[in-house]
Amino acid sequence: MRIETAITRLLGIDLPILQAGMSWASSNAALPLAVSRAGGLGVIAAGPMRLPALAEAIDAVREGTDRPFAVNIPLYRQGADEVLDLLEEKRVPILIASQGGPKKYLERFKGIGTTCLHVVASEEHALKAAGAGVDGLIVVGGEAGGHPPTELVSTLVVTRAVVRALAGAVPVVASGGFADGAGLAAALSLGAGAANFGTLFMATPEAGLHPAYKQAVIAASSTDTRTVGRGFGMIRTLSNPFAERMAQAEAAGMPAGDRRALFAAGTLKMAALDGDVAEGKVEAGQSVGLVRLIEPAGDVVRRITAEYLAARAGLPGSDAATEPRDAAVAAAR
Ligand SMILES: Cc1cc2nc3c(=O)[nH]c(=O)nc-3n(C[C@H](O)[C@H](O)[C@H](O)COP(=O)(O)O)c2cc1C
Repeated sequence: MRIETAITRLLGIDLPILQAGMSWASSNAALPLAVSRAGGLGVIAAGPMRLPALAEAIDAVREGTDRPFAVNIPLYRQGADEVLDLLEEKRVPILIASQGGPKKYLERFKGIGTTCLHVVASEEHALKAAGAGVDGLIVVGGEAGGHPPTELVSTLVVTRAVVRALAGAVPVVASGGFADGAGLAAALSLGAGAANFGTLFMATPEAGLHPAYKQAVIAASSTDTRTVGRGFGMIRTLSNPFAERMAQAEAAGMPAGDRRALFAAGTLKMAALDGDVAEGKVEAGQSVGLVRLIEPAGDVVRRITAEYLAARAGLPGSDAATEPRDAAVAAAR
């Protein structure tokens, strides 16, 4: 099965489905390998990884498939330069950089033929990155898990804003809130060449998360997340005692130094590795409300594809659809 877009052509993949780089959850070989094998793009999240573990994961994905995969690096991480050196040495096919500017890495990676995607959350940053010469952009909206944009502009709006501003100069991946094939159809309708799925892929056996984290994800509804940590790298997380305490401190105007300490006391690692879903940062997007079961990642890719085809066929004007859809509308009246 192939669904061709500007992004699939750029990345050399069959399906416009990206598994988002997620610290801990995709800081392994298993999840990216399963997604790339199924025709999407698997992404190793280098954020929390030590160099030997990262090298091993890259080798393991390469041994498991000859299809493309990517490595995500948040440029603010400690030791980012050493990670970039390793990625250059390993000649990774695709680099996805977030949380920083493209100048730091672009020339050297383009020089060795790596395709460079840059993560942005606004029109302004999209234009800057495109002007610097990145090959593609991942545009993140307010629904997203992890670090959504500060002003929480929705994916619906920010994707359109970026696509309009770029006028086709650089292909775009939409990120934040996508959890099924209807979401993929929506992303492509907005002018994106693919959708990035984060929260959805946390609910897979391959994700490197404690079972308690995965259970919390499939139990949550779409109103169970909140954003905390404004000013220190705001995150969207499941509501839990840590997030409640943080939100109260923010509402009460606690001094920044104390708030920062409170924010640092809970970590993603506590939730992801130790399963402390009360006191850790249980980062997740609003699409948790659409994720109900733990399913192998390859099956997730195949399900998104089938749902995408059904969603397209169900649109007004499509051959397959007009009848039942019109009947349903009539019945609802
Ligand atoms: C647990 C978690 C960890 C994340 N870690 C990273 C990361 O290391 N680097 C990065 O660029 N984005 C990270 N993100 C953001 C994702 O790449 C992606 O933008 C987001 O998950 C998309 O929204 P969704 O969760 O609604 O699909 C993370 C998201 C989550 C939920």
